Amino acid sequence: MAGAERSNSFPSGAPERLVTERLILRRPLQSDADAVFLRYASDSEVTRYLAWPRHTALDDTRVFLSYSESEWRRWGCGPYLVYSDDASRLLGSTGLAFESPGIASTGYVFARDAWGHGYATEVLRAMVGLARSLDVKWLYAICHVDHRASERVMIKAGFRKEGILKRHITFPNIGPSRADVISYGIDLSHEAPDSPRAAGSAAPGGRRR
Ligand SMILES: CC(C)(COP(=O)(O)OP(=O)(O)OC[C@H]1O[C@@H](n2cnc3c(N)ncnc32)[C@H](O)[C@@H]1OP(=O)(O)O)[C@@H](O)C(=O)NCCC(=O)NCCS
Repeated sequence: MAGAERSNSFPSGAPERLVTERLILRRPLQSDADAVFLRYASDSEVTRYLAWPRHTALDDTRVFLSYSESEWRRWGCGPYLVYSDDASRLLGSTGLAFESPGIASTGYVFARDAWGHGYATEVLRAMVGLARSLDVKWLYAICHVDHRASERVMIKAGFRKEGILKRHITFPNIGPSRADVISYGIDLSHEAPDSPRAAGSAAPGGRRR
């Protein structure tokens, strides 16, 4: 893959940089801590419906970046930071979290000033394309039952509603009780990784094709 750095880790290694129509996605570095903290991870409105506690100190963000490193080392894939297409502005983050070689979950978070531009849908489509290229069979995502915007993003990106998981996880920025979530997924098991659809979502290190 031209322009893409590859990891040798299991399962096959994802590109460390992806480019979509309007966005650049790249593997996070420890030096990104300040930007991640300031742009979205410490924002109480942004983190309301997330499964991780809002970051209150830079060390919280460093823990996330260490987690990212361990995911990339183990799976050859993990979180991505999302930038504007001139790479000047950190907008948010996304990624794939592997549970096994064929099963991964995904998610997305954007700084408040980046909401409402279709960016979440664009990166989620890129994650579907990436999952296909890595031979993932089942890609899923969950959201809080009240999170209409997130549901809408999943529907626009082609995910299908699987059902409601009762009292599934806690949302630490809302309260201590376990809450119901809606589960969405995409079955990729019938698609060959090098099929035409597999090449269509994001270009590793280059423009969308
Ligand atoms: C949720 C989030 C990712 C959406 O990002 P985004 O880039 O604004 O999403 P998009 O523009 O691609 O699409 C949002 C869709 O939701 C719709 N929407 C927004 N708020 C909504 C609401 N309260 N009710 C119903 N639909 C809503 C938008 O109209 C749009 O749909 P449309 O294109 O059909 O009009 C963003 O708000 C965010 O980062 N929130 C904080 C982190 C978070 O909650 N992440 C998801 C955890 S599951």
